[in-house]
Parts: sequence; C-alpha cells; structure tokens
Amino acid sequence: WWLSLSMLCSVHNHFQIKNSKALKILLESINEYYQRLQIFLDNKKKIERHNAGNHKFSMGLNPFSDMTFAEFKKSYLLTEPQNCSATRGNHLSSNGPYPDMIDWRTKGNYVTNVKNQGACGSCWTFSTTGCLESVTAIATGKLLQLAEQQLVDCAGAFDNHGCNGGLPSHAFEYIMYNKGLMTELDYPYTEGECRFKPDLAAAFVKGVVNITKYDEMGMVDAVARLNPVSFAYEVTSDFMHYKDGIYTSTVCHNTTDMVNHAVLAVGYAEQNGTPYWIVKNSWGTYWGINGYFYIERGKNMCGLAACSSYPLPLV
Ligand SMILES: *[C@@H]1O[C@H](CO)[C@@H](O)[C@H](O)[C@H]1NC(C)=O
Ligand SMILES: *[C@@H]1O[C@H](CO)[C@@H](O)[C@H](O)[C@H]1NC(C)=O
Ligand SMILES: *[C@@H]1O[C@H](CO)[C@@H](O)[C@H](O)[C@H]1NC(C)=O
Repeated sequence: WWLSLSMLCSVHNHFQIKNSKALKILLESINEYYQRLQIFLDNKKKIERHNAGNHKFSMGLNPFSDMTFAEFKKSYLLTEPQNCSATRGNHLSSNGPYPDMIDWRTKGNYVTNVKNQGACGSCWTFSTTGCLESVTAIATGKLLQLAEQQLVDCAGAFDNHGCNGGLPSHAFEYIMYNKGLMTELDYPYTEGECRFKPDLAAAFVKGVVNITKYDEMGMVDAVARLNPVSFAYEVTSDFMHYKDGIYTSTVCHNTTDMVNHAVLAVGYAEQNGTPYWIVKNSWGTYWGINGYFYIERGKNMCGLAACSSYPLPLV
C-alpha cells in the first residue's frame, strides 16, 4: 500500500492524469509492479530455503530475481533443441598427466571481461567470442574484444538463429568460411542487419575442433594443454539464482538434445574432493561469482560434455 500510494502520487505529479487511457496504463503498471514483487518474494523464499539446506553451492538475489524461470528461459536461453552431436570429435588428447588446477585468467592476459548478453538467446555468440578471443590472445599475445553482434546478424547460414540460439562450433565454422570476425568496437552489440566489413575483420579461424561428445577428459586435456573451451549444457530453474560454490543438480538432463546455454570453460580445480570447472558466463558481473560460476567436473553434469569445441586461430 505504501508503495502503491507513493507510486500513484509521484506518477500523478509528474504526468498529470488527464484521461482514462493514462489511468489505464498507470493501473497496468501498478499491477505489473505487484506481480513482479510477488515473483521476487517467491524467489527470495526459494533462495533462503536453499541456503538453509546442505548444498555445495549457494543462491542469491541477482538481476533475474523478479523473473519466473519460464520468463527467464524465454528471454535468455536457447529455445529449440540444438544440432550438437560431434559423435566423433577431432580433438586429439594427450595422455596427461594434467595439472591439478589451471586458470587461464591468471596465466596471462588471455580472457576478456565478463559481458552481458541481455534479453536475447545469444549465449552461443559470447561463448564463441570468448573462446576465439582467448585462443587468439594465446597465439598472438594480443587480447581483442570480438563482435557477438556480427554472429547474431550474419551467421544464419550455419544453423545459427540469432537471438533464438546457435552453437559455438557452428559459429566457428561461419568465421572460418566468412574469413573473419570484426571487433566489438567496429561492430557494437546492438540490433541490426548484417554489417560485416571484410577489411575490418580482426580475428580469423583456420579450423574447428570438436571434442567427442561426453568425453569430459578431452575437455580437461584441451583446457590443461591448449586453451579455454566452449561448451553447452542444460540450465534448469535453480541455476538462475546461483551465487557461488560448486553447482550440481539432480534434475538437469545430460544429453546433447537438452542443452540450452553455451559458456566458456576457462579453467578447472578441485575443492574438498569435488572437482569443478571454472566457467565464464555472459549474464553480466552481478550474477554468480562476478559473472563466473563453478560446476561439478567429471560427471557430464547437465550435459556439459555434450558438445564442446574450440577454434584453431589463423594468425
Ligand atoms: C537442425 O538441423 C536441421 C537440418 O539441417 C535444421 O532444419 C534445423 O533448423 C536445425 N536446428 C537448429 C536448432 O539449428
Ligand atoms: C563439429 O560439430 C558440429 C556439431 O556441433 C558439426 O556441425 C561440425 O561439422 C563438426 N565439425 C568437425 C570439424 O567435425
Ligand atoms: C546421464 O545420467 C544418467 C543418470 O545419472 C547416467 O546413467 C548416464 O550414463 C548419463 N549419460 C551421459 C551421456 O552422461
């Protein structure tokens, strides 16, 4: 009541309600406000209940706390099943041994800042740029910020669907055949038609490497020896509220047809006997551990080993 009264007064003061249309809009926005508040309170309860229990990860309020999972899914996740099935990948694993932990963020200037995809199912473009940014920096010593929007706008011929989804492996192929990806500076992240300019291409791909599906040790091999790796997995409702700790789930699926989000593994480690991946997300820095999350390693958790890949940079 306090909120609605003060809202009514301030809106009234500012806009002077003169007709019923304005009043209707006002009532609708008050109604929307109450719906959001209710969802927020439900989520807050869910978070508190989870944090009171015994779990490897904790939840917290974040910019998604006033959304239902159904809404979140529609705006942020891949909606249709993806054709990701590298039954036999072309990544060649060594026999190890592998270091106990690796973190490409601290090995050098190899990982760009966490970005924010906004309300668009474009996670696959951020997983792609993140990986190409890193492999290029490892090869050249120069860390570029690459253009997600070029992939959203131009990579459709390779089974990608802009804000409705796509796959890093398909995006790497686009970059290879298209002969380059521009920088974020030259091709900013705002809606539009394809505006690729060949002379402004800044990063190039000479090959795409898939890791055989469900071969999580292949991912360890690649991350330990070579570079960060793009992967996809299934996000279920609790993941939206992730705050820190090692994410595990008993409800997510683990097969290629169920993945709905793509991210970038930048390292791995182990804590109290639980091995985990260090993962860069694209939901801004107010989500998770400054935009990163940890997820249990070694169990194909939520299908994270279903379709991982990385590009070979052309430098
Ligand atoms: C999967 O592949 C089929 C056949 O190539 C295509 O029609 C469909 O759009 C693809 N789905 C996605 C999500 O890319
Ligand atoms: C990699 O996997 C994708 C499916 O995710 C497939 O379309 C592509 O042909 C594969 N590329 C190679 C080099 O095997
Ligand atoms: C998926 O999970 C089930 C149940 O834990 C397990 O039996 C199966 O082997 C897993 N499949 C893959 C591909 O990881």
